[in-house]
Amino acid sequence: MTEKIGQQKSGKTEEKKVIPSSPLGVFDSGVGGLTVLKEITRQLPNEDIIYLADTARVPYGGRSPEEIVKINEEIIPFLIDEGAKLIVIACGTSSAIAYPLLKDKYKVRLVGMIEPGSRAALARSRTGRIGVIATVGTINSQAYQKTLEALNKDVQVFGQPCPLFVPLIEGGFVEAEETRRVAKEYLKPLLKEKIDTLILGCTHYPHLLKILQERVGAGVTIIDPAEEVVKDVKKLLHQAGTTKSHGNPPRYEYLVTGSVGNFQDLGSRLLGKPITHAKQVKIV
Ligand code: DGL
Repeated sequence: MTEKIGQQKSGKTEEKKVIPSSPLGVFDSGVGGLTVLKEITRQLPNEDIIYLADTARVPYGGRSPEEIVKINEEIIPFLIDEGAKLIVIACGTSSAIAYPLLKDKYKVRLVGMIEPGSRAALARSRTGRIGVIATVGTINSQAYQKTLEALNKDVQVFGQPCPLFVPLIEGGFVEAEETRRVAKEYLKPLLKEKIDTLILGCTHYPHLLKILQERVGAGVTIIDPAEEVVKDVKKLLHQAGTTKSHGNPPRYEYLVTGSVGNFQDLGSRLLGKPITHAKQVKIV
């Protein structure tokens, strides 16, 4: 069933009271943001979450910056209208391209992946030689490069786009031999540069952690920005006095713009928990 919500709403004009029991809004093009959702459930186990997977438009990675901004300008007000008290942009591409332009536009706080991911990498790197793997859009934006260099001018950043990873993951090829072969090719130039830290600049990639760690070896520290992102979310909720610390058990609501069945099957597998009640929504 398709529900039509949020068309006439702006997320700016309508006042909705943000209270501790309001949910966190989390979104991505598909199953990538589930890696962030998982970390939220670990660090903030009481919070309710509305997860939006824009599977009708996945992948985002090859889209133009204008398209990415437009998509974000549709999804963010939608989640605000759904009552989100804070929105986690659980998508590297949106965080790189849309977050800098939209971060102050709405009444609800937005949290992106890039700055927390950069901080985490700098804290762990000993040599300052940092690799970033991400979508074409994120690498072209140079968001990680600029943020890392702004935080530490001595750092050397090596970016590598990995356009085949998202279609492979969304297709369920998470531990397939094909994915291993593709990973080997993508990581080769970074290993040549002798990186000691590798940022997973796309939220889909932690689903490939096993393959990636195997490939780079124990000498390279892999950074999943989600841990630092959720630490930030925790702080922000605390400062705003909107942490849901007790009460009803947490509620997770899954909304998809594409096929419900595919998302539920793959999402359950990747999350390691059944997703049974996803709902299809139309946001534009
Ligand atoms: N998981 C998102 C990201 O972090 C989107 C990837 C895609 O749809 O291409 O970039």
